[in-house]
Amino acid sequence: MDKLLVHGGHPLRGVVTISGSKNASLPILAATLLTDEPCIIRRVPDVSDANYMLQILQNLGASVERSSGTVRIEAEDIRPVAPYDLVRKMRASICVMGPLLARLGEVTVSLPGGCVIGDRPVDLHLRAMEALGAQVEVESGNVIVRAPDGLRGAEVNLRGKHGTTVLGTDNLMMAAVLAEGVTVIEGAAAEPEVADLADFLIGMGAKIEGAGSQRIEIEGVSRLGGTEHAVIPDRIEAGTFMVAAALAGEEVELRRVLPRQVVAVTEVLRAAGHDVIEGEGRITVRRGSDPKGARIVTEPYPGFPTDMQAQMCALFATTPGISVVTETVFPERFMHVAEMKRMGAKMERTGGTVVIEGVEALSGAPVMASDLRASAALVLAGLAAHGTTEINRLYHIDRGYEHIDDKLQALGAEVERRKD
Ligand code: UD1
Repeated sequence: MDKLLVHGGHPLRGVVTISGSKNASLPILAATLLTDEPCIIRRVPDVSDANYMLQILQNLGASVERSSGTVRIEAEDIRPVAPYDLVRKMRASICVMGPLLARLGEVTVSLPGGCVIGDRPVDLHLRAMEALGAQVEVESGNVIVRAPDGLRGAEVNLRGKHGTTVLGTDNLMMAAVLAEGVTVIEGAAAEPEVADLADFLIGMGAKIEGAGSQRIEIEGVSRLGGTEHAVIPDRIEAGTFMVAAALAGEEVELRRVLPRQVVAVTEVLRAAGHDVIEGEGRITVRRGSDPKGARIVTEPYPGFPTDMQAQMCALFATTPGISVVTETVFPERFMHVAEMKRMGAKMERTGGTVVIEGVEALSGAPVMASDLRASAALVLAGLAAHGTTEINRLYHIDRGYEHIDDKLQALGAEVERRKD
């Protein structure tokens, strides 16, 4: 199992190019199941979640060719049963459900279990499939969804207890594109990754309006064809490097980023006293001379992303004054807090809120990565800490950050990947 040693105290400076979005790639790769024609997808990041999705597609019968960031998938002859061993490794594999159901009229997929960021149910996904006329059964840990007479368009409200659902919106959209008639999704996730999936589906011949807003209208078509698509830049990777620059940087320029997709992070960094300069496809972040505490509340897009919450905690850990972080999307998502406390952070959690009193510096320590974004936050914390931080279970970070060690090194950080 790999670990990362981060030797703190080397300021970041230079240019970093942002990779294609992991969260946009996963449903787009799954959407290739909707056609028997070849699809070509560019800027698929080399991260293990994308690789799991490609393995799942292959296991379902698709042919997959990959050459660096470009993937060619041809799902000519596929079967409707997603293999448990692969599915259990990644919750996002649930998004093969919509396309398999739409194309084959049935699908069997394992129910995802809980994970360290809390209970992650799929009730809204299942409700959506039922609304289109499918029957849902749960048997031996699998969900079996059948629509022997095809799917029919319907009006579906995706608002749940913790707001809407991103992958649930994706699944519904992918099922509805081949359903008979019109589907209206109310309370849809407005995340840019949903809009990117819609662009891909439209390229395949789907009729979709309103993706990227909370109301999406889909007119079903009888078949879809192959297409080519380039995945949008990863706004969470971008946000992570923006926070790295504010925390441990002098000046870092991010390239191939869409500034409008990271506005929530930009605003908080500015409120915390850092300079963020937006350009065409680029952003420059300079650490401010007088940083101060700030407040964030995570919310669905365009609110502050839950996937950036842990990294912000790392920044606030050494920001003078009091910062308050409230998590509304996954209220249990605070595994990083205990690890940062081991590095000397002053953080008090009550329910879904953490109050952080900035200390002058953290000290390096062995810490345990628990999920993807929490791991990234520990790397950030290590960049500015005294001494060496050893981040174990690095596979979490490799799930979603393309070559993070190389990118940080190119900016002047001292990081080493080690095998145990
Ligand atoms: C996606 C992202 C993940 C991000 C999350 C929220 C991908 C691959 N992953 O995950 O990085 O943190 O959006 O922005 O794109 N919920 C239900 N019932 C459901 C589905 C979800 O109650 O059927 C709840 C969840 O427990 C959570 C909230 O809704 O509290 C939002 O989850 P959701 O948007 O579905 O997250 P994902 O799509 O799984």
